[in-house]
Amino acid sequence: MSTLTIMPSATSIAVAEGDSLLAAMLANGTPVAHKCDGQASCGQCHLFVLEGRKGLSRTTREENAILDTLVGVGSKSRLACQATILGTEDVTVEVLSFV
Ligand code: FES
Repeated sequence: MSTLTIMPSATSIAVAEGDSLLAAMLANGTPVAHKCDGQASCGQCHLFVLEGRKGLSRTTREENAILDTLVGVGSKSRLACQATILGTEDVTVEVLSFV
């Protein structure tokens, strides 16, 4: 288990290893935009990882391909549906798009 802090609300939740950021936030009631339901095709779940990048799975080629199509992407960008919690350290994210 590790802690996921969601900005800008500063909500902290306990998250289990293997959950995606998207699944963890939706289970908590955070209305993250996710038009493709986690299929890595819409890009709506784009967020910034502010702390704890090493507590998440590595970015895949498919995820990078979608990120390359988005505006405002930076070194802290991830797709919430593709970043899986490893449970090795706490993670802080900034959600950019809500439904
Ligand atoms: S939910 Fe569509 S890319 Fe993540």
